[in-house]
Amino acid sequence: MAQKLFAEAILGKLTLQNHIVMAPMTRNRATADHIPTDIMATYYAQRASVGLIISEGVGPSPNGEGYARIPGIHSAAQVEAWKNVTDAVHAKGGKIFAQLMHTGRIGHSLHLGENAEIIAPSALAAAGEIYTDTDGMLPHPTPRALTTEEVKQTIQEFVNASVNAVEAGFDGVELHGANGYLIEQFISPDSNHRTDEYGGTIENRSRFLLEIAEEAGKAIGLHKVGVRLSPYGVFNDIKPYAEVDETYTYIAQKLNEIGVVYLHLVDHSSMGAPIVPDAIVNAIREAYKGSLILSGGYDAERAEAALQSGLANLIAFGRPLIANPDFVERLKTGAELNQPDFSTFYSPGEKGYTDYPVLEAVASK
Ligand SMILES: Cc1cc2nc3c(=O)[nH]c(=O)nc-3n(C[C@H](O)[C@H](O)[C@H](O)COP(=O)(O)O)c2cc1C
Repeated sequence: MAQKLFAEAILGKLTLQNHIVMAPMTRNRATADHIPTDIMATYYAQRASVGLIISEGVGPSPNGEGYARIPGIHSAAQVEAWKNVTDAVHAKGGKIFAQLMHTGRIGHSLHLGENAEIIAPSALAAAGEIYTDTDGMLPHPTPRALTTEEVKQTIQEFVNASVNAVEAGFDGVELHGANGYLIEQFISPDSNHRTDEYGGTIENRSRFLLEIAEEAGKAIGLHKVGVRLSPYGVFNDIKPYAEVDETYTYIAQKLNEIGVVYLHLVDHSSMGAPIVPDAIVNAIREAYKGSLILSGGYDAERAEAALQSGLANLIAFGRPLIANPDFVERLKTGAELNQPDFSTFYSPGEKGYTDYPVLEAVASK
């Protein structure tokens, strides 16, 4: 029987109800112009018994909203709409961070507002295709490379979005440095061919993330800034590279010096990605002294073992939380879990979103 998983946890200045984190999951239920909707408040409130919810990826700026129906957090209307979500979660005793996800080159202009464009560190298109609501699958577009000045403006966009997130009632932000989005497009030497101070060496490729972390921390407090990373990740055409261990050890050291509240590691081997070697996880654990969140393919037993061993401070669960609003209750009682329906992961509307049954509903059928 799990001991630690269900016990209260401390994260910076927050006390969490338990050690269970809801992993960030894009669900595409915002409006076409990226405004959060009422069903999003219902969805997150249904899942508020976890210790911490990390929201789906949220666009920090118009250029960062490259997917269909993902929410943003740069306009007053978006901030207002998010207040419904954060209020609903807090009313149930939950805590929620906003994941700031700039899609960079993994987006399509069909989803962007009028003056927005697809940008990236370098003008290199990702291999593969992207889904669009109007035209179905289309090749990833070739992004425009940011100038050095524009890189600095984009850093400021993340900082402004962090301020907006706090204004909207979020307990903090997670900088999405994983899964091939803009921050990882800077980190990876394959997608970053820049010759200014944001490209080339490990220090330079990490600078974009580290400057965002530092500046966001100054703006909202470092106890409200976490970072998600995916060493050895291959999602969105990130290619393996020789310096990966050195890169992530350096980043972990620097994030430790800066003092962000948590580091959240992605392991998508349960989804077909390469296994993240223990050596790099241990090197990161060694370098970074704050709260470490591990995620990817966990069940209650593995989670408890990772917490007991001291490797992880918190464990994030993704797909099980899509299908089980009362996930914590089900784990506690050993009840069977509902299985997620993949066909409704990204579709609009309530189906497969807010209509998964909870235990009482199953019992009364
Ligand atoms: C539908 C779906 C959407 C996702 N969207 C995001 C996202 O917006 N940001 C992110 O960092 N990870 C995203 N992920 C990855 C999850 O956060 C998590 O790492 C992954 O599901 C593995 O955990 P699990 O095995 O517990 O599901 C997504 C996963 C799924 C299934």
